[in-house]
Parts: sequence; structure tokens; C-alpha cells
Amino acid sequence: GDKSVSHRALILGALASGETIATGMLEGHDVLRTAAALRSLGAEIERHLTDAGPVWRIVGGRWRDPECALYFGNSGTGCRLVMGAVAGQGVAATFDGDQSLRARPMGRVTKPLELMGAKFNARGGALPIAVARSALHAIDYPLPVASAQVKSAVLLAGLGAKGATRITEAAPSRDHTERMLKAFGADIRVKTGQAGRVIELDGPQSLSATTIAIAGDPSSAAFLVAAAAITPGAEIIVRNVLVNPLRTGFYVTLTEMGAAIDYENARECSGEAVADIRVRHSSLKGVNVPAARAASMIDEYPILSVVAAFAAGETYMPGIEELRVKESDRLAAIEAGLKANGVVTDSGADWLRIIGRDGDVRGGGHVAANFDHRIAMSFLVLGLAADNPVAIDDGSMIATSFPGFVATLQSFGADVG
Ligand code: S3P
Repeated sequence: GDKSVSHRALILGALASGETIATGMLEGHDVLRTAAALRSLGAEIERHLTDAGPVWRIVGGRWRDPECALYFGNSGTGCRLVMGAVAGQGVAATFDGDQSLRARPMGRVTKPLELMGAKFNARGGALPIAVARSALHAIDYPLPVASAQVKSAVLLAGLGAKGATRITEAAPSRDHTERMLKAFGADIRVKTGQAGRVIELDGPQSLSATTIAIAGDPSSAAFLVAAAAITPGAEIIVRNVLVNPLRTGFYVTLTEMGAAIDYENARECSGEAVADIRVRHSSLKGVNVPAARAASMIDEYPILSVVAAFAAGETYMPGIEELRVKESDRLAAIEAGLKANGVVTDSGADWLRIIGRDGDVRGGGHVAANFDHRIAMSFLVLGLAADNPVAIDDGSMIATSFPGFVATLQSFGADVG
């Protein structure tokens, strides 16, 4: 299940009155933490196992102050989105997370929420953060960072704020919140103007429960697609993948590199585009990745970097300063991991260059995952096609987003464990 859509299905379900039914939910640690937080805020959330797979039932409504701090583990999405919703619902709560999440910037969310009237006792914009009970008013907010998490936090707060909340984003970020708000019956307007995309929502307004089928996560599928693209003889199909154009920059880039990728059986599912993705191994060449594409593949730079190591020629990736504030400093982690495996790189504050080795990567490195699931998975994939096996120091974080990752690789014949 797609991680972004799973978080949103739980949060909007918890805000809506009535019973929301969701299938295809990602049952990774990040999403389960969001479910637990929403239960302490008063939502009824149950998982039922049926012949057709797990079905999640969410009964939302009025939120209450939780008895304990809300703990989001490794999840920036869960924490930031629920923070916006909590502020809008006028409840008091404390937010906390693991070592990685405590090091990530929260001011990007608390600042706009403060402009709306929310009150925080923030420790310099980092977790743990407490929000006090207060009434919000709408704001007109040009997004200073291309972040769907910030946009979503403000929109969710806007549901409970008085007046028209308006957000302008110069570069469009993933729009699952906007799409799903519509599915929950919200009055939300999206226009494209000179300054970019403008999203407007009147508050306070309530949501009506609905039924959602969640498609597969293109950010998780990217590891499997990359594995097939760089492993001689491989060909796979990943079924039922979300292919919202604001999420598919990685697939566009891989195609430009010469990968043999086809979308099959394209369809629509709960307001989102979905397809099966077929990929087979082919020779690849390095490319310049346009900075404007960054938002649509922001989580895929670690795995793209691995693919670039196997391509012929250089791959240049500008405009990626946001990688420094993800689950780890991903730019630094990619460079360190590639160097440990015999790949030459160069970087600046917001760019990365990789000198591809045309299929001949030494491997044999020992890579620090830095509490970051995507770094861990990326370097395991590098090990598949490298001359020597790759070791990572800790794979436990993989379960935050892709609990079946190792088993899936093994089912393709990979020697991993
Ligand atoms: C997400 C947005 C992205 C992404 C994250 C999930 C979301 O973060 O990196 O994994 O679900 O909204 P930013 O919006 O902060 O770039």
C-alpha cells in the first residue's frame, strides 16, 4: 500500500463522521504509529482479516486530548500531518518520535500553524513539541518549501479554522491530500495561477466517511524496478502501482536512462491513477535530472543513485537540498555508501554527481543505514548486481515503509538475509 495515501486514509477517516473502509493499507511501522496516535485522539480503528485481505474500519468524529504523548517513531508524514489536524481540532497533545525524527525540522509546520493561531511550546522547532488547545483562523500561505507534508498540515488545520485557507505552491508537490479531501466530500478548490498551484478550502467544515482502495506504493516499487533494471537477465511486473504523475519522476528518469519500462493495464482507483509496471534489464546511460522534477521523485534519489552507479557516464542531480532533512542526511548517506562500494561521486549543498561504472560495480562495502529505510533498501539492491555482496549495519528500519522487502527480493532469487 502507498505510505502517503495510507496515512491520509487513516487521518481523514478519523476526522470524518461515520465509518470509513480502507483496503490496501500499508501495514508498515510508520502507518501503524499514525493509527495508534489517532486511536488516542478518539478514533475507532480496527483491522479485520477477510478472504480478500485486511480491511481497515475507521470511525471518526470529535477528537479528544490524548492521555499520553503521541509517538510517531520514524515518521515525518504521520507526525506533521497529525500535528496540523490536532491544531485544527482544538485539542492539546504532545508529539514525539525516534532519534531520526527528533533531528528533523518541525518549524516548517509549526510556523504556519502559529500564523493560524496555534500555540506550541516548541523546543527550537524540534520534537518533542506540545500543542495547546486554541481556536484557529485561516491564512493565505505561499509554501516556502516544496513539501506535501507542510501543505497537508496546513490544509488539515484549515478544516477546523475559521475562513478560507489558501495555499500557493510554486512547484507542485504530491496532491493526495487534495484528492482524498474531495473523496471525503470536502469543499476544496484547486486552480493554477501565475504564482503556481493555489489550493483553497473553507473552514470550519466536516468530512463524510467513504470507502477507499489504496494502490501500491511507487516509492517502494522503485526498489524492485531498479533491481530488475540493473540485474542482467531480470524481468519483473509490479502490479497495482499508484502512478499519480506527481509521484512518478523516478520512472520518467529511468526511461530517459534507457530502462525498458512499460505501464500496463492503466486504470483509476479511488481518484488516483494506477497501473502495472513491467521492467527488464537493459544497458543504461547517465542523465541530467531536471531540478524541477525533484518533488515528484524526492524519496527515490537514493535508489536512483544506485541505478546511476550501474549506468555508463555521469548522472547529475541538482535541486535536492531537501534530501538533507529526510530520515537521514540522504545526500551524505548516498555518497558514503557509494564510495564504500567503489563508485566515485561529487556533491555540493544541493547537488550530487555520480560517475557511472557501466555495469561494473565492485560492491563489497559495509554501509551505515543511519536509521533510514530508503538508504538500507537502496544499498541492498546495489549488492544484487555488484561483483561482491554488500552489508548494511541495520535493516530494522525497512519495516517502516516496506515490511515485505527482503522476502520479496528472496522470492526473485536474491540471496539476502
Ligand atoms: C510525503 C511527502 C514527502 C516525502 C515523504 C512523504 C507525504 O515529504 O518525502 O516520504 O506523504 O506527504 P515532503 O513533503 O516533506 O517533501
